[in-house]
Parts: sequence; C-alpha cells; structure tokens
Amino acid sequence: MTMQSLTIRRPDDWHVHLRDGEMLRLVAPFTAHQFARAIVMPNLVPPITTIAGAADYRERIWEAAGRDFQPLMTYYLTDESDPEVVESGFNDNVWLAAKLYPANATTNSAFGVTDIRNLHPTLERMQWVGMVLCVHGEVTDPDVDVFDREAVFIDRVLVPLIRDFPELKIVLEHITTAEAAHFVRDAPANIAATITPQHLHLNRNALFAGGLRPHAYCLPVVKRENHRLAARAAAVSGSPKFFLGTDSAPHSRHAKESSCGCAGIFNAPYALESYAAVFEEEGALDRLEGFASEHGAHFYGLPLNEGTITLQRAENDIPERLALEISI
Ligand code: DOR
Ligand code: ZN
Repeated sequence: MTMQSLTIRRPDDWHVHLRDGEMLRLVAPFTAHQFARAIVMPNLVPPITTIAGAADYRERIWEAAGRDFQPLMTYYLTDESDPEVVESGFNDNVWLAAKLYPANATTNSAFGVTDIRNLHPTLERMQWVGMVLCVHGEVTDPDVDVFDREAVFIDRVLVPLIRDFPELKIVLEHITTAEAAHFVRDAPANIAATITPQHLHLNRNALFAGGLRPHAYCLPVVKRENHRLAARAAAVSGSPKFFLGTDSAPHSRHAKESSCGCAGIFNAPYALESYAAVFEEEGALDRLEGFASEHGAHFYGLPLNEGTITLQRAENDIPERLALEISI
C-alpha cells in the first residue's frame, strides 16, 4: 500500500540563497516553513565579507522569516580575505562556514577568488579551527566545456586542495556529475556534498524541451542522464557524506526570461516534497530522514533538530509565479 503520510525529524537546508530586501521577505518564509536551519549563501551585492555585514543580514533574515528559523551564515571568500576576520566571525558565532566562489563562476561571483593560492593562509586557519569550506566546484576557464567544468574542477582544484589541507572540512556544493558523486563517496570523511532537487529530477534535455527553458537553467548546469542517476544513487545511498542543499536561487521573471538569463532555480516552496518524490521513486523513503535531517548536522557538528515535520500525499497546484511587492 502506498504511504499517505510521512513524518521525519525537522530537516535543514544546507545551501540556500535568501537574497535581500523585498525578495528576502518574499522567499524566506518558504524556507523557514520547511526547514529549521539553513546555510545562507553570501553572494549578495556587495557580498558578505564582514562580521557586521553578516550579523546585520542575519537580523534581516530573522525579520523576514521569524525567530524560530535559524540562519547559519557564511562568509564570502575573496583574494583579500583576512584569516583573523574569518576566524573571529566563526569564534563569535556570526558565521559557520566560508564559501569559495571561483571568480565569475556564477551569479554575483565577480568578487570571488582568482587563484586559490591567495587563500592559503585563510584555509590554513579554517583547517585549524575546524571551520567548513563550502565550494562552488566549477572551473571558469573558457576553454573548458561548460558541461565539464565540475569534473575538471575536481582534478585541477579540489584534489590539490585536499592534498594541501588534508584535515579541512569541505562541502562540494550542488554536485551534478558521476565524477563528483564518486569522488566524494570515495574521499575521506571530511569531504561531503550537497545535492539539489533539480539535479535529481532533471537532465539536460530539460533545458531544451520544446524550446529554450530558462527556468531549468542553474549552475552547475544540469547534465546528461547518467549523471542524474549517479546523483540519485548518491542521495539515496544512506552515506553520511551526502545531504540536502536546495540551492534555491530566486530571480525575478525578467531576469530569468531574458536574452542572457540568470542561473538559478527557485525551489523553496516544494523542496522537501521534491526530494521525497525522488526517494519514493528510488524505494528509499526510509533514508530521506538521514539525508534531510541528520547527515548535514553531523558533518557541521551541530545538534539534530527537535520536533518533526509531516508530509501528506496530495495533489498540488504549483503556482506559475509569485508576486513580488515592490515598495517605492
Ligand atoms: O544556479 C545558481 N544560482 N547557481 C549558483 O551557483 C548561484 C545561484 C544564484 O545565486 O543565483
Ligand atoms: Zn548556490
């Protein structure tokens, strides 16, 4: 008999973009409705690079989402990052992790890192204090095919990084390839990965289904079917190295539906349902709780959430668009 409801420990989202201003007020309640905590990405304009900036942003998130929700802040690494600042923000419980964007790899990454060697003093310090490095794992070399940028990143950047900082805790964010899934599976315990719902549901055909589909465009871009299946196998494997990170990344409609559309899929309103559908299709619903509510907390060294969430099986009419109230 098909299950009609499923109750699991309250989950966390280990990778989300909440934006700022009106967009923050629109989207944050969706994340807070499903997730007790979330790792909040720092790629605002300008990015979050100071303790005061992160603390203020956290306040704005609380105002938008309510105090029951726990935003776990991240620091945006740049070529100029100062190990003292990174460590202070961590010790003061302002941020939990730092995010590495290779310069120009994705949305608002222009201030990102041009050469990882510029970060070595900071990474040394993070390794020492046990602070997690979240990585956007794509090279930006225009000579590398866009579908290969994650696999090439592993060889060119991640392998040397792990060699140089063997104890550093690293999360390879939003993995999209068999290469990444297998690399993380076989790596030491301090290397983990998040997986989005879209990379479990879509392959690259979705980008061209009957025409160009900007709402299926995110970075890293969705890949061939064999890669989607590898991401699914990793997610439902029960391995503590893989956990939920939606990469929910809202953009206004005009920014998506454009001659140069932004990367990002806004999935927050039905994120948990999307994952549950995958786990059910894979016959692994009993492993959803580990993926959604346990593995990430263990990796980050945080307690598990109290309380539960119950999903009821039901037909849903998913709205095509949400209205953003622009106050002028
Ligand atoms: O699709 C994406 N959107 N990937 C990212 O890495 C960034 C994100 C965004 O901020 O829009
Ligand atoms: Zn992201």
